[in-house]
Amino acid sequence: MEADKRRAAEAALALVRDVRFLGVGTGSTVRHFIEGLAGIQPHFEAAVASSEQTAALLRQAGIRVLDLNETGDVDLYVDGADAFDPHFRLIKGHGGALTREKILATASRRFVVMVDARKRFDCLVDSVAVPVEVLPFARSFTARKIVHLGGAPAWREHYLTDNGNQILDVLHLPLSDPASMEIQLKSIPGVVEVGLFAHRLPELILVAGESPTVERLERPAL
Ligand code: 5RP
Repeated sequence: MEADKRRAAEAALALVRDVRFLGVGTGSTVRHFIEGLAGIQPHFEAAVASSEQTAALLRQAGIRVLDLNETGDVDLYVDGADAFDPHFRLIKGHGGALTREKILATASRRFVVMVDARKRFDCLVDSVAVPVEVLPFARSFTARKIVHLGGAPAWREHYLTDNGNQILDVLHLPLSDPASMEIQLKSIPGVVEVGLFAHRLPELILVAGESPTVERLERPAL
């Protein structure tokens, strides 16, 4: 699996061209991507990190890190995912960085996802838990509201996000219409962000592991 993640990350490195500001996600696949960036020293002005962990890795690799407030929108945002479906919808946030990840994806001109083939699902409902970042003050309240929507939330105990919030990992959400569920979850007071990405879809998903070459899934223009 690590070898597949590395291959997907290497394929993404080739896309870092004509980029001034690069958004960088979080997770083990991204770690391979950052190692690769350090090796090729591509020319971009600075990176914007989706987590403190990624910011530290980037700095260790000698890459300048700026705040999104300083850069404005980024040219390219590269990240991993926990699940994707044939419609390019994603579940993200098992690394806890979903809020900044969704902001960066939305603030990017091009969003590219690198995954190993185990992240591919015909239907998101059969895939993995959906992380939801919530204000600590509202954890029980938001959990009850999520139960009303049909989900089974589990508190990720002893864990705080970089924003000082908590995570509920939600199984069994009715996901026949992920875009609608994303909005319903987001509209619960106390919910900060949702790890369902059914509105800002990636333009490209790089999948490693099912064939000798990395598969390029290009989203048809809307
Ligand atoms: C972090 C994320 C990651 O992209 C996702 O968890 C995939 O991680 P990995 O590359 O380690 O499989 O959303 O919040």
